[in-house]
Amino acid sequence: MSNKVKMIEGRLTVPDNPTIPYVVGDGIGADIWDAAQGVFDAAVEKAYKGSKKVDWKEVLAGGKAFDLTGEWLPQETEDAFAQYLIGIKGPLMTPVGGGIRSLNVTLRQNLDLFVCLRPISYYKGIETPVKAPEKVDIVVFRENTEDVYAGFEISSSDPKVEKLKAFLKAEMGWDIKGETGLGLKPMSKESTERLVLEAVKYAIKNKRKVVTLVHKGNIMKYTEGAFRNWGYEAALREYPDFVTKDPKESDKILINDCIADAFLQNILLKPEAYDVVATLNLNGDYCSDALAAQVGGIGISPGANINYHTGVAIFEATHGTAPDIAGKNMANPSSVILSGKMMFEYMGWQEAADLLEKGISTTIASKKVTGDLASMMTGNPVTLGTKEYAALIIQNM
Ligand code: NAI
Repeated sequence: MSNKVKMIEGRLTVPDNPTIPYVVGDGIGADIWDAAQGVFDAAVEKAYKGSKKVDWKEVLAGGKAFDLTGEWLPQETEDAFAQYLIGIKGPLMTPVGGGIRSLNVTLRQNLDLFVCLRPISYYKGIETPVKAPEKVDIVVFRENTEDVYAGFEISSSDPKVEKLKAFLKAEMGWDIKGETGLGLKPMSKESTERLVLEAVKYAIKNKRKVVTLVHKGNIMKYTEGAFRNWGYEAALREYPDFVTKDPKESDKILINDCIADAFLQNILLKPEAYDVVATLNLNGDYCSDALAAQVGGIGISPGANINYHTGVAIFEATHGTAPDIAGKNMANPSSVILSGKMMFEYMGWQEAADLLEKGISTTIASKKVTGDLASMMTGNPVTLGTKEYAALIIQNM
């Protein structure tokens, strides 16, 4: 039997020995990947006693790829993600300047990974800046391909910017003065609908109660405001039996919306009001990191970039390469481990996912953790190295 994950008639089909490509990542990538791979294999072994096993396949990206092949993101790597559907990656450094686009953004665009999925909840034992972090249990669906991330941007020093300004003046009557860089913010009906419908599907499947559309439609009426309107329309059109705008219909999922700045206040004031959030690319970037900080999880939050139609999904650590602690057995591998938990859930290997959750939550609650977490804990936490922390997670599964 083929060991490729496949999408057959809209359903993901996962063999017992799937080949899963992984990118180690730069900086602390090697520290956290080695630890995480051991934890993943232990969870799968414990859950399935040898009847299932991941066949890991290394693919290159980032600094390691550049050193070995002269390319930051070899075509082979993109092809492997497209071919095997499910992949996982550590952090990648983005070379500053020189016009090299973020590798993460490139992968998201080229593979059309239209959802950036960021579940955010609290782990007992972690110190946080808020009084009741356990009230946060929010899953963010961030549109991943459009908005100001689309890459339609032009420098003030590019001669073409004057042409564009002249066109905008002549055709639109827009008077853009002085030395100005310009960017476009596209937001299409198609991308809105596919994002919002996945958020609704997730809410139905996971018995969530509310889907909130977060936008700045009061200011950007034809992009963010359109996202709001198209989002409501699509959800109510496609799932009339499951979704309502009327809070009195308590047997259905409530769909509502919130202006992004109010949302950033409300997540501090009444986070329990939010459940599943669907939002545009830039709002999603800000909101998911603000929420992660609120639960003290900025260094451990997981993420995934998914195209639910083709099945292609890349799970990833959301922190950077932390060059200051690379190679020192100090890095916290929780973010990549929890992204692996999301990966197993996506594959339908729920038992392995549950073991990872148990291992991580028990270990963090025991306050035997890596230095970044220990430094934020009261009550005599014990600082462990990356390897020792991973070993304890396995023990606690
Ligand atoms: P960073 O997340 O690498 O580091 C910020 C701080 O957090 C540092 O003090 C670092 O030691 C600490 N830290 C981060 N991850 C940690 C972990 N797992 N365990 C313990 N401590 C951890 O952010 P920074 O410094 O802004 O970026 C460094 C590089 O990472 C840049 O090249 C940037 O482009 C890249 N980056 C890549 C991302 C990705 O691939 N998803 C995301 C963010 C940044």
